[in-house]
Amino acid sequence: MSELFGIIGNPIAHSLSPLIQNEAYQLNGMNAYFQAFHVENEDLETAIAGMKAIGIKGFMVTVPFKAKVIPFLDEVDPIAEKKKAVNVVKFIDGKYVGYNFDGEAWLQALLEDMGLKSLSKETILILGAGGAAQSIYYALSQFENVHIDIANRTMEKAEELKKLGQTHRYTNIISLEDAERRQDQYDIIVQTTSIGMWPETNRSPMNITHLKKGAFVSDIIYNPAETKILKQARENGAQTQNGMKMLALQNALSIEMWTGQKVSYERMMESLEKTLS
Ligand code: ATR
Repeated sequence: MSELFGIIGNPIAHSLSPLIQNEAYQLNGMNAYFQAFHVENEDLETAIAGMKAIGIKGFMVTVPFKAKVIPFLDEVDPIAEKKKAVNVVKFIDGKYVGYNFDGEAWLQALLEDMGLKSLSKETILILGAGGAAQSIYYALSQFENVHIDIANRTMEKAEELKKLGQTHRYTNIISLEDAERRQDQYDIIVQTTSIGMWPETNRSPMNITHLKKGAFVSDIIYNPAETKILKQARENGAQTQNGMKMLALQNALSIEMWTGQKVSYERMMESLEKTLS
């Protein structure tokens, strides 16, 4: 019998995870199947009980359930507990256990594309303070000498986010206007909001006009492949990265967690690029 995996979200119809997961299972000769599940808010608890009852061995969690899913899991690992968000669940000894490695997937993608092994003293701007920013900030706050500015429309939410990396010495909360003004101070800018996502592709949280020479700009959005902020950054001389590698890594890491099998995320990226172009 095939092992079953899936993803829950709402909306979920446009998720590309089923495509890249099922392709990876085939390529690696795995007897498994991946299904996207559209779940209504009020059905979340029942949906999770149902998935357990029918033997789903692992599932990914996306918007809007990353935080909401926690009360319905049997266990949550300490990092996901701290981030108050889960992106992948694994069935272990009769229990659903939640984990979160969104930030690690993003960081791996960043380091690879920047050609670095680690970060040292970079000055970094995080745009946004939602669930995605949370994971990214947590991953970045392990580098104690980097300087991190968090800019968000609602500054109180950025203050909350700062508490997550409470041992981090150099984190400041600033307004979006200040971020725009000071944009030439940053080595790395990461855009974590949904602004600029298809179909509202002419929007951007910040106007890029005067970046630091050699700056790297990362946007976690992958549709469109080049958001307005990335286009402006490229035109301003920056190296840029969209969210495709992060998405591929999230999927590859999930498969490895569920099955112990390493799969190629580069292959997943090729499929994503083909599908989205
Ligand atoms: P996710 O889990 O995908 O990160 P989220 O938790 O809803 O989603 O967070 C969305 C982020 O996008 C937040 O930082 C949000 O800013 P606020 O905290 O001020 O709401 C930001 N965002 C969304 N729409 C925005 C807009 N029109 N202008 C500025 N920021 C916006």
